[in-house]
Formats: sequence, structure tokens, C-alpha cells
Amino acid sequence: KINNKGSFTFSAPSNIALVKYWGKKENQIPANPSLSFTLNNCKTVTTLQYEPKTEKNISFDLLFEGQPKESFRPKIQKYFERIQELCPYILDYHFTIDTKNTFPHSSGIASSASGMAALSANIIALEKLVNPSETEDYYLQKASLLARLGSGSACRSIKGNIVVWGETESVEDSSDLFGVEFPYEVNSVFENYQDTILLVDKGEKQVSSTVGHELMHNHPFAERRFQQAHQNISKLKAILKSGNLTEFIALVESEALTLHSMMMTSMPYFILMKPNTLEIINQIWKFREITNVPVCFTLDAGANVHVLYPNKYKEEVQKFIANELAKYCQNNQFIHDEMGLGAEDL
Ligand code: PMV
Repeated sequence: KINNKGSFTFSAPSNIALVKYWGKKENQIPANPSLSFTLNNCKTVTTLQYEPKTEKNISFDLLFEGQPKESFRPKIQKYFERIQELCPYILDYHFTIDTKNTFPHSSGIASSASGMAALSANIIALEKLVNPSETEDYYLQKASLLARLGSGSACRSIKGNIVVWGETESVEDSSDLFGVEFPYEVNSVFENYQDTILLVDKGEKQVSSTVGHELMHNHPFAERRFQQAHQNISKLKAILKSGNLTEFIALVESEALTLHSMMMTSMPYFILMKPNTLEIINQIWKFREITNVPVCFTLDAGANVHVLYPNKYKEEVQKFIANELAKYCQNNQFIHDEMGLGAEDL
């Protein structure tokens, strides 16, 4: 135990899954493997202050942009309870956790992935002080593992720029416990791949991801879907190498629609797209057909659309977004993002 107080600041970005994680087992173990691009601009920045105390318990204050924010408490409390056996040193300190996001408030962009990854990077920085004898790989792996216990997909935000989470045959050293950097050759068309997030609906999520994952229990198509995710990771591995964007687009869009199909065919059932989500999808398809620009969409568990395109087409796609797609967004809002490198010590 270290006996003085101190602080760290880490940022961690959001990530966008191409092969989607949907369905989980006990202990935040994914029902299927997933693969994501780590993003660069949509980030959470978290400062963790630690102060030694004598009593052993979980103790923390929460701030959002410097102001007390109690609404995050249950989620953070649960996170500390889940990690306390793996990180017994957390019981020796009182923490003050101050977070801010680089993306607008209540934009409908989930901050749980970036937030849990940024907090976990801070906790591991403390572990490095308490127990400095491990390798850098150990700390990175453990940061991802802790992030997973906060929010599953957060484990993919510790590293960049392509991450696989969930044990699967086609990816060596893949694990259900943490995300690993995609370990194979990637074609240069994927360098600095762009993701513009169209904010179609900034309202509260209709279905939390916790409830969503549960809908995969007793889901009539679950087993087939889980198999498909393994197959899609294997296919995507070949596509990432070849750079075949036609195949990339087909796989990525199909994954997005499959995620939404799972929600439409569960009991209870949900439609998470809005009319403007479909308008945007149709506009993207039309634009792609007319221009042959390899742009495609993906979706999270909500109405917002992620527009994915190679860096080379940035100018024309961003013009198309501003001129043709922005009007389908709430207050014409969208955020340009791109592939990034994961958590950072600030
Ligand atoms: O990390 P969670 O439990 O919020 O789940 C997120 C699941 C999706 O965003 C819909 C898909 C994914 O793989 O990120």
C-alpha cells in the first residue's frame, strides 16, 4: 500500500462493433465473439484521485465535469464490487472520480464503453504503483478485463485500432475475459477508416443493453446467431487482409441488421430504428449505387447510424453527409470520428 494521496488522468474512446456482441452469460462473459474499430474523437476523460484510509471498504465520490453526480453511483458501486477480489487494493483508498466526455451531453452516444475503459485504465495505473512487478501486457490485459466487468463492450476500448473480444477459433489468443488487438495483417484501405455518427435520436434508450442481452436467453434464433458471429469474424479476418470493400460492406451492414432483427424477434420485441434511420440507410444505398463510393452503415442498439468509409473518400462522403444526411438528424447533429488507439495517459 502506498501512503500518500495522488491522482491519475486517463482518456478512453468509444468503439464501434462490426461484428456485434449481443447476448451474455454469467460474469460478463459474451455469448459470441465481437470485433470493433476503436474510435478517436468520442472519448471520456477521467481523473481518479486516491487517498489512503484505514478502514477496508469501497468508498468514492463522483463528479461529472467537476460537479457532484450521484446518478452514476449504482453502476460504479457495482463495478467496484465486481473488481474488488481482483483488485483488493481498492479497499484501502477513498476515490474521487471526475469524468467528462468530449462528445455533447445526452447526444445518444453511449458513454459506458469509454467511461468504463477510462476508469479501468486509472485503476490499473494505481495497481502499477501498488504492484509494479508485472509486464506491460499484463496491465493492459487486466485493464481490459476490468473494463469488461464495468460494461462488456468497454473491454474493446483499452486498445486500438481493431479489437476482438470473445474466444473464437479464427483469432489466436482471443479470450472471453478481455479484448485483444487484432493480430493479423490489415489492408491499407482500412487505415484511418472513418466513422461519422449521425444523431438520429438523442432520447433515452428504449431498451438498456442489460435488458437487451437478456432477451437473447430463450431467444428462438440465439444459437444460430452465436454461430454466425464466429463465422463472420473468420470471414472478416480474410476481408481485412484482402481489402475487398464489397464484401466488407455486405458483412458489416448484415451484422447491423441482424442485431436489430434479434430485437425484433425476441419476446418482448422492440423496434429501435426510427423512420429517419431507414431514410438514412436508403440514402446511403442510393449514394453508393450512383457514385460507387464504398460507404456503408452500421447500428448500435438504438436509432443512431454510424457511417463507415475509407479515409480516401473522406471529402466526398462528408459533403454527402452534410448535404443529404444531416437533415435526418436531431438538430442536424453528427460527429466525425475515425479509428484510434485506445486508452491514453494524460
Ligand atoms: O457493452 P454493452 O453491454 O452496453 O453492450 C453493447 C452491445 C452493442 O453495442 C449493441 C454491440 C457491441 O458489440 O458493441
